[in-house]
Amino acid sequence: MSDPLRVAVIGAGRWSRSAHLPGFTRSPLSKVVAICDLHRDLAESAAAEFGIPEVCTDAAELLGRPDIDVVDVVTRGDHQDLVFATLEAGKHCLVEKPVCHDYRDVWRAHELATSKGLKTKVGLTFRYAPAVMYMFDLIREGFVGEPYIFNGYEQNSQWLDPDNPMDKRIHRTPPQGEPEWGTDLSREGIVVSSLEGYGAPTIDIGLECVGADLTKVVGILANMVPYRRRTNLDTDRERIHIDDADMFMGEASNGALFSMQSSYVTVGNYPGIEARIFGSRGAIQVRLVEEFGVIQTIKTATPDAVEFVEREIPPEYFAPGARPDDHWSTAFYGNLVHNFCQEIVGERSEDQGDFAQSARVQEVINAVTLSHREHRWVDLPLDRGEEQPPIQTMPW
Ligand SMILES: NC(=O)c1ccc[n+]([C@@H]2O[C@H](COP(=O)([O-])OP(=O)(O)OC[C@H]3O[C@@H](n4cnc5c(N)ncnc54)[C@H](O)[C@@H]3O)[C@@H](O)[C@H]2O)c1
Repeated sequence: MSDPLRVAVIGAGRWSRSAHLPGFTRSPLSKVVAICDLHRDLAESAAAEFGIPEVCTDAAELLGRPDIDVVDVVTRGDHQDLVFATLEAGKHCLVEKPVCHDYRDVWRAHELATSKGLKTKVGLTFRYAPAVMYMFDLIREGFVGEPYIFNGYEQNSQWLDPDNPMDKRIHRTPPQGEPEWGTDLSREGIVVSSLEGYGAPTIDIGLECVGADLTKVVGILANMVPYRRRTNLDTDRERIHIDDADMFMGEASNGALFSMQSSYVTVGNYPGIEARIFGSRGAIQVRLVEEFGVIQTIKTATPDAVEFVEREIPPEYFAPGARPDDHWSTAFYGNLVHNFCQEIVGERSEDQGDFAQSARVQEVINAVTLSHREHRWVDLPLDRGEEQPPIQTMPW
């Protein structure tokens, strides 16, 4: 085996520690050589926990180094500037979703990466759950036959409590220059939140299940809990006009029907994903809802045995170093990270969950948003030259 890939991680917050760093540390193909955070103490404690030799607070320092192969962007808020800087610096790039809020910018990033021969991957975590990887293989082997209907749900009750701060960042001082999320209370003024944050990975799974792009969508965004605490420093609630529940339906180019619902005010546990695909020869249901210590289940049925029966997930769908008591974040992200390393070193050829796939997902999000704003069906693909309404999202 050649030398491990040298990885620099930007962001030493919660998700970095529970998903990214365990993943890169476990993969035999990678070594984390540096960690960067605006808060040096966070970078230092992550370095101590994961045995990372170097710490810094300025990402530009890492991007300029020729000895770094892969940059992992796991910051909160906008990722776009760091993504383009990473690609311009000639590094393979893993980034948390969304890559950019406008699907056309995601395509630009994809084209830049392709022109430089760089691999990309997005934190579409749930396609790497062993149960979902197994489902995809069953679909490829023909278990479902011709796809008829996909139903996707991503829902949990994380923000049912209005006093749980909407902005997940831990602020030490009040954030400056943050946008308002309550000034335009019209139907059109709702700020996209759940659809982009929670809908994205399930749209990704759905597109793979039906095996085709969507050609039209119609959807609605709603705000169920109007007054919330904004940050960890606020004690009062304020009017925050965001999408905390949404639904859409669509049609795929192969005729399959597609429905999705995402929400974080729906009673249930995290991550709260359910994916159901029904076809001419069989049906599969995957559930990624952490309940009573179980993080994933897969059930299948066929026309001559219609009761859904649970299947055991074969061991080859688990990442190197996986343990039976892994939290879902570590279990799923272990596969994502190892799979990315395999793609970079040429052990895998498919480039799954890359920027191109993320652009397709983001285009559906942009189209559903347009459908909500304009009260109409929206055809896909969108006209890339056409002016799109800006998407404003929560930095959660
Ligand atoms: N894919 C998933 O399932 C999933 C799950 C949870 C979170 N996430 C995403 O992961 C990202 C990080 O979430 P989190 O909970 O760890 O957030 P967090 O706020 O706990 O951590 C982010 C860290 O990034 C640092 N940071 C911000 N900008 C930086 C910069 N320019 N340079 C260096 N450091 C910088 C911050 O100081 C902070 O410590 C978010 O985009 C979030 O949406 C994805």
